[in-house]
Amino acid sequence: MSDTQLFEGAGDQEIRRPLMEKVVAISFIVSVIGTIGLGVTYWVGGQPQVEGGFLFLALGGIGVGIVSWGKYLVPQGPYVQERHEMKSAPEDLDAMHASLSRGLGQVGRRKFLLRLLGGAVGVFGIINLFPFLRSLGPVPGKSLFVTNWKHGSELVTADGRTVLASDLEVGGVMTVFPKGFEGEPSNAIDQVILVRAADYDLVTRPGRETWGPQGYLAFSKVCTHAGCPVGLYQELTQQLLCPCHQSLFDVLTGATNVFGPAPRPLPQLPLYVGSDGVLRSQSGFDEPIGPGFWERGA
Ligand code: FES
Repeated sequence: MSDTQLFEGAGDQEIRRPLMEKVVAISFIVSVIGTIGLGVTYWVGGQPQVEGGFLFLALGGIGVGIVSWGKYLVPQGPYVQERHEMKSAPEDLDAMHASLSRGLGQVGRRKFLLRLLGGAVGVFGIINLFPFLRSLGPVPGKSLFVTNWKHGSELVTADGRTVLASDLEVGGVMTVFPKGFEGEPSNAIDQVILVRAADYDLVTRPGRETWGPQGYLAFSKVCTHAGCPVGLYQELTQQLLCPCHQSLFDVLTGATNVFGPAPRPLPQLPLYVGSDGVLRSQSGFDEPIGPGFWERGA
């Protein structure tokens, strides 16, 4: 039995194989060149059209190479294998040895193509890792751990106006910042919601006897669920509502969450009224702001 009888339909492929191997190899090399061009363009300042062209080459090279490989280098069926006696005829053995010799050459070339494919994909992944990491934005550093509130911080509005104890009626609410850090988007973590829940000193929890002078209570605006700003105050129930997932926080018990997915209360900022009538913070928060995350452990 001849070699071509064993694998019908393999004839055309055998003729085109050397050409297609070159096509596959060139495609992967073009991809590597495109990826390197993409990386260089990015590092020298970036130019969207040029980057797009190199990205096209990088991905297109891998795509053309893999498709060509699958279509022209992988044997296509249907295959017909004839049954034969247990002992092969001498001519069949000769045909098998010849086929094996050719096959070993193909195995060597296939390893080479596989290395090229691995190189193209690897270079693409490594070079694109840096723009990807950079696109995640600046490293937060300590900004997720500390706020700018400290002992004596003056409460001011977003436009920098000092907040006096006489400013709010009972039921009134406003957003405040520590003086010097007002209205800066990067200081969203400093946002505090100030509520006047009564006209006498309020104690939300044991140990917080001096935190609520003249009925003023202050809580971090950053929701402990997913970080949305908690800005809606329902005077009737004296609850704060987070608009994102409807968590409700009870003001009079230290913003404990009474409904919704928030896992813990909003941190409370201890206040005092200065001799000049200005509202100030006794200190910073005594617990982490916002959602917990694995690095913070809370
Ligand atoms: S972010 Fe506030 S309830 Fe989800």
